[in-house]
Amino acid sequence: MSDIRLGIIGAGNIAMEHLKVIQALDGVSVVGLTSRTISKAKEITKSFQVENVYENIESLIKKCSLDALMILVSANQIYDVIKDLIPNQIPLFIEKPPGLLPEQTKTLVELANQYETKTMVGYNRRYYSIFHKGLDIINKNGGLLGISIEGHERFWKIVTRGIPIEIRENWIYGNSTHTIDLLRFFGGNIRNINSFSKSLKEKNGDQFVAALEFESGALGSYSSYWYSPGGWSVTLYGEGVTVIFKPLEEGKWLDIDFKQYDIEPNEFDKKYKPGFYGQLKAFRNMLKTGTLDWPGQDLVGAFTTMELARKLVNA
Ligand SMILES: NC(=O)c1ccc[n+]([C@@H]2O[C@H](COP(=O)([O-])OP(=O)(O)OC[C@H]3O[C@@H](n4cnc5c(N)ncnc54)[C@H](OP(=O)(O)O)[C@@H]3O)[C@@H](O)[C@H]2O)c1
Repeated sequence: MSDIRLGIIGAGNIAMEHLKVIQALDGVSVVGLTSRTISKAKEITKSFQVENVYENIESLIKKCSLDALMILVSANQIYDVIKDLIPNQIPLFIEKPPGLLPEQTKTLVELANQYETKTMVGYNRRYYSIFHKGLDIINKNGGLLGISIEGHERFWKIVTRGIPIEIRENWIYGNSTHTIDLLRFFGGNIRNINSFSKSLKEKNGDQFVAALEFESGALGSYSSYWYSPGGWSVTLYGEGVTVIFKPLEEGKWLDIDFKQYDIEPNEFDKKYKPGFYGQLKAFRNMLKTGTLDWPGQDLVGAFTTMELARKLVNA
């Protein structure tokens, strides 16, 4: 069977991480790439196999017979790019966040429904091999009783990096959704949520706390203090077992005697940006079967996570 013909839009850091995985995965090849600055697009193709670089998105679509497109552009550009692409009905892999605001993502959901365009949004942490091993340990011990997520941002660094104001003001949607989405990944659907937010400096809040109850009956908590060094972590509670990811890329579990056991990532998560190999395999599978399996998220899933983030903002 011939390879799935991928097109790529964007030639930044994340495009490079995806290209490393595409080179290693059977059955997919990049037939065309375009980006805002063509010199950078040409530069990236020196290190990776890409058939052609195109001057703009229109030429990429017209001249390549594409099976799918990967949208890897800057966070404040994705919405505008996707909005125009959805009517072409080419299946899309979309880096997060598809919109910088939940309303934008909702518009994309409606468009994708209207044109029946298949989508997958890049919440790569859902594909961390250590998370799946951690879930197995919990499920073998009676299931999930509770989950605690800390999603502290390093905002004192963000404000010095010249990040566009619209991205900074919507950081909870653009970036914190990585950790907020993990509530849904580990806990499933949410039945109840009580949340509080405060602001030290940021207009839309920079301290967030939530207590949750999942439909499964498990309990959850989320906290995020953007001006306090803390990092990202997840703790899963089961009967007689606790699983800890702190930082997210390192896992261990404790038994009732507090004995610690390491949870090792698989070879792909060691070699590539964690989760990227599993994520691309899932996208390839979606292109072959027409179905995006759990834990993959399409635009609807991304919108659900963004709505959860909105509940933290509007507390
Ligand atoms: N999943 C993850 O863990 C993760 C981590 C980091 C980033 N991301 C997401 O990945 C995306 C890209 O991030 P990045 O770090 O690679 O950013 P980046 O280094 O700034 O690269 C973005 C690329 O997109 C191009 N671009 C921007 N607007 C465009 C447009 N309208 N049309 C065509 N090309 C356009 C840029 O062109 P120029 O060369 O002209 O700037 C640049 O090549 C962001 O949405 C970000 O949220 C995800």
